[in-house]
Amino acid sequence: MTNSNSVAEHTNTAQHSKAGTIKAKPDAAHSLRDLFVDELKDIYWAENLLTKAIPKMISNTSNPEMVKGFEKHLAETQNHVKRLEDVFSSLGEKAEAKKCEAMAGITKEAEEIMSETEMGDVRDAGILSAARKVEHYEIATYSTLIAFANKLGENTAAKLLQDNLNEEQQTDNKLYAMCQAM
Ligand SMILES: [Fe+2]
Ligand SMILES: [Fe+2]
Repeated sequence: MTNSNSVAEHTNTAQHSKAGTIKAKPDAAHSLRDLFVDELKDIYWAENLLTKAIPKMISNTSNPEMVKGFEKHLAETQNHVKRLEDVFSSLGEKAEAKKCEAMAGITKEAEEIMSETEMGDVRDAGILSAARKVEHYEIATYSTLIAFANKLGENTAAKLLQDNLNEEQQTDNKLYAMCQAM
C-alpha cells in the first residue's frame, strides 16, 4: 500500500514537472554571459521607466522629506541608466532595452494605489510601499548581476553594478525608516 502510494506520488510529480517545462525560443540564451546581457537589458528598461515613474511619485507626495528623498533618488536613477550604458560598453555590447514586465507591473500598481487614495498621509504610505517594492526588485537584480559578472570575470561591469546597488540599498533603508515613522 505504502509502496504503491509512493509510486503514484512519484509519477504525479514527474508528470507535473513535464507539463511545466517551457520550450525555449529560437533566440534563447545559451550561456551565462547571454543570460547576463539579457538581464542587463531588462534592468536598463526598468531604470529608464523609473526616470518617468519617480516624478509621478513626487507630484503625488505631500511629505517634504519624501519629496526630497525621491528627488535625490531620481538624480541617482538617471545616473543608473548612464552606468548601465557603461556596463554595456565594458562588455562590447550595444545598450539595448527589453521590457521588464515586473517593473511595468510594480509601477502600474503604484499608480493604482495613488488613484485609490486621497492626497495626504495615506497616499504617502502607499507610495512608500510601492517604492520599496521597486528598490527590492532593483536590489535583487543588481546583486544577482554582480555575482554573474564576477563569475564571468567582468570586473568593470561588477564595479559599476555595485555602485548602482549601493545607492538602491541606501534608498531602501531611508524608505524603510520613513515607513516606520508614518
Ligand atoms: Fe536604480
Ligand atoms: Fe532605485
